[in-house]
Amino acid sequence: MNRPLVVGNWKMNGTQSSCALLAGKIARGLRLHPAPVDVAIAPPSTALVAVRRALGKSPIALAAQNCHWQANGAFTGEISSVMLRDIGCDFVIIGHSERRQLFLESDSMIEKKLKAVIDNGLRAILCVGETLRERESGRATDVITRQLRSALKGLGKNVIDKIAIAYEPVWAIGTGHHANPSQISRVHRRIEQFLASLLGKSKGTECRILYGGSVNPDNAPDLAALKEVSGLLVGGASLQADTFLSIIRCFNKK
Ligand code: PGA
Repeated sequence: MNRPLVVGNWKMNGTQSSCALLAGKIARGLRLHPAPVDVAIAPPSTALVAVRRALGKSPIALAAQNCHWQANGAFTGEISSVMLRDIGCDFVIIGHSERRQLFLESDSMIEKKLKAVIDNGLRAILCVGETLRERESGRATDVITRQLRSALKGLGKNVIDKIAIAYEPVWAIGTGHHANPSQISRVHRRIEQFLASLLGKSKGTECRILYGGSVNPDNAPDLAALKEVSGLLVGGASLQADTFLSIIRCFNKK
């Protein structure tokens, strides 16, 4: 069984110095009170180098929030997975709903991005999730299955351990309304079944399935206790060292 993975997604927040300071505080907190959890933080791209430096020898992994699928070329404003590896990134978040919705990333773009990340030796946090309208019309699991099938299409079975899947219902992100435990367990089980059907039972269980969407120190203990949840993707509550550390520590007893 994989160790749980807790990821802090800082989105478009922070300068080099504020991000380095926050990363340093989280690293110090974990050094003083280690937790049996893998931790990654995803600062904005302008702060990746500063955060890498601030993390020093800390086991905390560095994640980027997005990348282009090509290695280089005429793609103004984009950053490639080759470049992210060059500056010491370990993970890239792919297919976050803000990318899908605000920047119109399609399933096929996400498929190409995921492949580029894996081909370049990085690991991916692949986000999937339904909108409120999709949930209310009973299509949540169909949408998630479609997103997974498309994203994983071009990949071999033996790279699944390089991918964590984050179930993030769009209606729960940044809204203060997290999905309830039975909704989360149901979707996570469906994802497990899908992976088992695609990859076989033993490969399917190598993939960690994270929950994300309005996770905070109050709801995290109940979410972390769910047997189907093998990690959390945390947005707003990862912008303070103490709240992020208390979420990480919820997995102490798991
Ligand atoms: P939130 O964001 O925790 O602020 O809801 C989660 C995410 O977008 O990954």
